[in-house]
Amino acid sequence: MKRIVIAIDGYSSCGKSTMAKDLAKEVGYVYVDSGAMYRSVTYFCQQKGWIVDGVVNEAELAKVINDLKIEFRVNPETGKSDTYLNGENVEREIRSLAVSNQVSIVSAIKFVREAMVAQQQAFSKDKGVVMDGRDIGTVVFPDAELKVFVTASAEIRAKRRYDELKAKGQEESFDAILENVKQRDYLDENRAESPLRKADDAVVLDNSNLTIEEQKKWLLDLFNERAK
Ligand code: DC
Repeated sequence: MKRIVIAIDGYSSCGKSTMAKDLAKEVGYVYVDSGAMYRSVTYFCQQKGWIVDGVVNEAELAKVINDLKIEFRVNPETGKSDTYLNGENVEREIRSLAVSNQVSIVSAIKFVREAMVAQQQAFSKDKGVVMDGRDIGTVVFPDAELKVFVTASAEIRAKRRYDELKAKGQEESFDAILENVKQRDYLDENRAESPLRKADDAVVLDNSNLTIEEQKKWLLDLFNERAK
């Protein structure tokens, strides 16, 4: 079997990261959550007070963007990969609705995308990587051997995010989450820099009515075919 690069793109909260993580674990590849990187930059800006009335202080952010150290480390207690920003575990903070509500404006900034894409490309030096996001198959790894574009209805995605936050004790209103999902779909698809698009050679998966086990098998079969 050859080592390949797998790009999983799609709408927010459609289960991309679950699929990507499961596959990476199953086949012993590195998993990279590119959304967590944009979320970390957003959280950093919020901590600094650099987002005021929906406007980011780009001058200040530009000075430090290349020094932000974003890493993924496996948490021995949960067996899951946590996101670290400048050495601090920010996994919980970056999943909050406060970050979700502002991540689209930060991820639309050109120099932020350039810095993140450079870091993302460095993860694939030795191939054997599964990365999920919005522009992985189109911009980050246009030559990826396997590209998947995932979608599901907005209501189903909002319900999944609602359940996920609730399970972590972060209860939010379903309507606020649905609004956020729709808003991010619009912003992700309509931004000037690297908008969310299906790559021409991506395989589409609508997982509205699939169980996690079913989608896991679907992806593993595809992987086995492409990595042969
Ligand atoms: O996958 P996610 O919902 O955690 O991503 C958070 C946000 O980051 C999403 O609203 C859009 C942005 N994003 C992006 O612009 N490009 C990526 N490759 C990944 C995420």
